[in-house]
Amino acid sequence: MKARENEIAPNGRLKRGLGGRVVVTGGGGFLGTQVVSWLRRQGARDIVVPRKRDLDLVDRQACRQAVQGADTVIHLAAKVGGIGFNRENPGELFFDNLMMGAQLMEEARLQGVKKFVAVGTVCAYPKFTPVPFHEDDLWNGYPEETNAPYGLAKKMLLVQAQAYRQQYGFNAIYLLPVNLYGPGDNFDPRSSHVIPALIRKIFAAKQRNDDVVEVWGDGSASREFLYIDDAAEAIGLATERYDGAEPVNIGAGREITIKELVHTISELIGFQGHIKWDTTKPNGQPRRNLDVSRAEAAFGFKSKTEFHVGLRRTIEWWAAQPAASEPVAGAAPQR
Ligand SMILES: NC(=O)c1ccc[n+]([C@@H]2O[C@H](COP(=O)([O-])OP(=O)(O)OC[C@H]3O[C@@H](n4cnc5c(N)ncnc54)[C@H](OP(=O)(O)O)[C@@H]3O)[C@@H](O)[C@H]2O)c1
Repeated sequence: MKARENEIAPNGRLKRGLGGRVVVTGGGGFLGTQVVSWLRRQGARDIVVPRKRDLDLVDRQACRQAVQGADTVIHLAAKVGGIGFNRENPGELFFDNLMMGAQLMEEARLQGVKKFVAVGTVCAYPKFTPVPFHEDDLWNGYPEETNAPYGLAKKMLLVQAQAYRQQYGFNAIYLLPVNLYGPGDNFDPRSSHVIPALIRKIFAAKQRNDDVVEVWGDGSASREFLYIDDAAEAIGLATERYDGAEPVNIGAGREITIKELVHTISELIGFQGHIKWDTTKPNGQPRRNLDVSRAEAAFGFKSKTEFHVGLRRTIEWWAAQPAASEPVAGAAPQR
């Protein structure tokens, strides 16, 4: 794909951070695919996406190979899932995410990588962070229990990034995206997050003319959601423009309760049945809403996609998938 003129710096060179080889771990995943597209649209030519089938980054040697020749590393590879998956796999989530991140950053440092972009998660925030979550509150408590092993394993990369900056002058930045959604999301009921889980259930109920859909929790928890293209742009802009030690929230700055979310999805799908709340199942973290001012000030990121528009696109994408016609069982979990 040809670079667009106005996205190339006046001196004719690619924007800072995007020239040279960019390795995007997890670049074949939900977020990674969009990050790679964004980079290509900016004119980046040498993008390498190591796949898990070839290089399992839990292994140190694979990390070494993955970063070979890289100028920039954007680390998106992770083991991820919704609340049910997190409850069943806390050990794997902790170990795999910690080992992948720690070893990859160490290998990047040893091989002289110029910039390392570590992507963390909103799950790293303490369970009862004052809303909106500000980056300065990141260490004021333990995360919500179901996502603590995942969130903390990823949070160690912030410690590593700051330590490496201090001791080695290594340019590693740390970003904290909120819950993402959009076309191409994981709709597998065993590991999906709340939006795809709800869309799948409600869409199937509508097709079967069911009267009732059962949902985990009591609907009182709140979440913030960022459309996938916006998240990709944020990561791209940070790669290009941000070289600070401080972590940066990536979000839309808009809070919605699970109850409102369920009603909005039902409306968009045209499901008119009843929602049964399974209060024996956990709500997850009580509230989630990010202060997004630092991202705007530091690298000019502001989310663009209106929530209803993003949701409609996601539902339309799902409706076109062959799996949308397959039956699903059980209640929709959330994270
Ligand atoms: N989705 C969200 O709501 C959300 C919110 C906040 C932060 N994040 C963060 O954003 C990043 C991307 O998440 P996502 O939703 O795009 O997840 P995803 O679709 O599951 O993508 C994760 C990618 O990681 C790769 N991967 C997993 N284990 C690996 C291993 N052992 N070795 C090498 N590669 C491995 C997979 O590569 P293959 O495709 O080659 O198997 C996969 O493409 C993660 O760091 C996640 O923590 C996501």
